[in-house]
Amino acid sequence: MESDQQIWYGTNTMIFLRRRSIIILVLIYLFSNCTTSSCINGCDLALASFFIWPESNLPLINQLFDNISYSDILDWNTQITSTFILTESRVNVPFRCDCLDNGEFLGHVFRYNVSANDTYDLIARRRYSSLTNKELLMRDNSYPDNNIPDHVTLNVTVNCSCGNKDVSKDYGLFITYPMKPGENLSYIALVTNTSSKLIEMYNPMVNFSAGSGLLYIPGRGEFKLKKRRRVKFRQA
Ligand SMILES: *[C@@H]1O[C@H](CO)[C@@H](O)[C@H](O)[C@H]1NC(C)=O
Ligand SMILES: *[C@@H]1O[C@H](CO)[C@@H](O)[C@H](O)[C@H]1NC(C)=O
Ligand SMILES: *[C@@H]1O[C@H](CO)[C@@H](O)[C@H](O)[C@H]1NC(C)=O
Ligand SMILES: *[C@@H]1O[C@H](CO)[C@@H](O)[C@H](O)[C@H]1NC(C)=O
Ligand SMILES: *[C@@H]1O[C@H](CO)[C@@H](O)[C@H](O)[C@H]1NC(C)=O
Ligand SMILES: *[C@@H]1O[C@H](CO)[C@@H](O)[C@H](O)[C@H]1NC(C)=O
Ligand SMILES: *[C@@H]1O[C@H](CO)[C@@H](O)[C@H](O)[C@H]1NC(C)=O
Ligand SMILES: *[C@@H]1O[C@H](CO)[C@@H](O)[C@H](O)[C@H]1NC(C)=O
Repeated sequence: MESDQQIWYGTNTMIFLRRRSIIILVLIYLFSNCTTSSCINGCDLALASFFIWPESNLPLINQLFDNISYSDILDWNTQITSTFILTESRVNVPFRCDCLDNGEFLGHVFRYNVSANDTYDLIARRRYSSLTNKELLMRDNSYPDNNIPDHVTLNVTVNCSCGNKDVSKDYGLFITYPMKPGENLSYIALVTNTSSKLIEMYNPMVNFSAGSGLLYIPGRGEFKLKKRRRVKFRQA
């Protein structure tokens, strides 16, 4: 009798506690939904700084970045004069910056056609030159890492920025720049024709000596060529 009552009290308290924690969880959920929403709209244009590994060329960039046309690539890259691109250089690839995951972050989902023996790590670090990472690929694709079927299409998310009006309204175009080992802040400022100070302002919390991770490099559109060039390509 006595123990029955204890059990009854026990479960009643548990139900009460459970109900309270559900309410708290719902409140946390609603609250966090309001505060973590970090975008409403995206923007039409962002650039991905794609590091050229051996054997990558314009046809490959076209495949990796949703069939982007050669002229769209050439518009943003004065240095390219043929389908052959200098290894270890970087190419700016224009893309649309979307507001993803119900406003959680800015990025673009590219469709990638899997090659034989691809793993998420290889796709992130080599094929996309660290513009994405393994964790995002595992999150966005249903296949297990050790068993990605050949020739299926995967979701590859590349992050981007549309600026931050608390920093400045002068910059409306951002390069998503994966840092490489050996690069430092002054070097990146030099090669992107910006200043270290500006890069730091747009990338608080970033460890510039880490040799990995993404940076957002601000610009006003000066990366774009003034006039369309005509470059002749031999058919591959
Ligand atoms: C790219 O082109 C191929 C061949 O025409 C097509 O099958 C594929 O769906 C296109 N990919 C995208 C993302 O538009
Ligand atoms: C994939 O891996 C298999 C077994 O390791 C190998 O025989 C094959 O040549 C590889 N294919 C490519 C395209 O690398
Ligand atoms: C892109 O942003 C998401 C969400 O903030 C983050 O989880 C991911 O690590 C970022 N991607 C890269 C390559 O840093
Ligand atoms: C890619 O994302 C879409 C939309 O979220 C999803 O329907 C699809 O299953 C994903 N593809 C893979 C391979 O998981
Ligand atoms: C994916 O690649 C394979 C082999 O290169 C090709 O046959 C197939 O058409 C490609 N699929 C798409 C959708 O591009
Ligand atoms: C930054 O990197 C450049 C090129 O790799 C190097 O010459 C320079 O000494 C480095 N600067 C610092 C402060 O480490
Ligand atoms: C570098 O930036 C400055 C001002 O921000 C601009 O005047 C100059 O033309 C740029 N140089 C190159 C090579 O883009
Ligand atoms: C930044 O990264 C470097 C290299 O990985 C590491 O040695 C250093 O401790 C890091 N600094 C901070 C503040 O995390």
